Amino acid sequence: MKRLVLALDVYERERALEIARETSEYLWAIKVNWPLILGAGVGIIKELKETANLPLIADLKLADIPNTNRLVAGKVFEAGADYVIVHGFTGRDSVNAVKELGEVIIVVEMSHPGAGEFIQPAVDGLIKLANDVRPFGVIAPATRPERISYIRSKLRGEIKILTPGVGAQGGSAKKALEAGADYVIVGRSVYESRNPREKARELHEELMGAI
Ligand code: XMP
Repeated sequence: MKRLVLALDVYERERALEIARETSEYLWAIKVNWPLILGAGVGIIKELKETANLPLIADLKLADIPNTNRLVAGKVFEAGADYVIVHGFTGRDSVNAVKELGEVIIVVEMSHPGAGEFIQPAVDGLIKLANDVRPFGVIAPATRPERISYIRSKLRGEIKILTPGVGAQGGSAKKALEAGADYVIVGRSVYESRNPREKARELHEELMGAI
């Protein structure tokens, strides 16, 4: 089973498609965020799906009122996204507006230092929201594997944990899986590498060895 998600945070269409082509063999999914959508247009989602033939996660971190979340998510699902990442702190009506259109992944904690200010203190409420809404998955930080273990211990059912923060932000892929994550999201370590395919292969093997 593959557990690596490539965060394809480049601006250029050609470069994105080339990296996707080179690394797809080692990936479970590709994640696109605003840099690529703004750089290459929303049509890149369909092109990536055709090129890599993998699930596509649109990491928009939606955090708006239900109607606006619905309008934005509608466009990316229509473009071919399989999952949309939403913030939970705006409340369940905003999250459900997206879930009515397709699969969602809810941010319950973030990997950067500033997450300690507002997101981390709210984590129990966000986990409760996830248990009620039952998304495909939640996002938890690989930079703090003990937080992954905590979140895993509180999540009910089949909800997956996807974890960014490996490599450039200092987290370890292996420790994140051991703590209870299902998928590891990696961006810069792969797309800034001189050999993205080789780096993706290494991470894939590390992940395979961790379970
Ligand atoms: P790097 O280059 O740091 O990229 O490997 C990580 C990718 O994941 C996103 N990211 C996060 N998304 N919660 C999130 O929902 C987080 O804590 C988090 N940390 C990183 C980031 O936008 C990039 O696409």
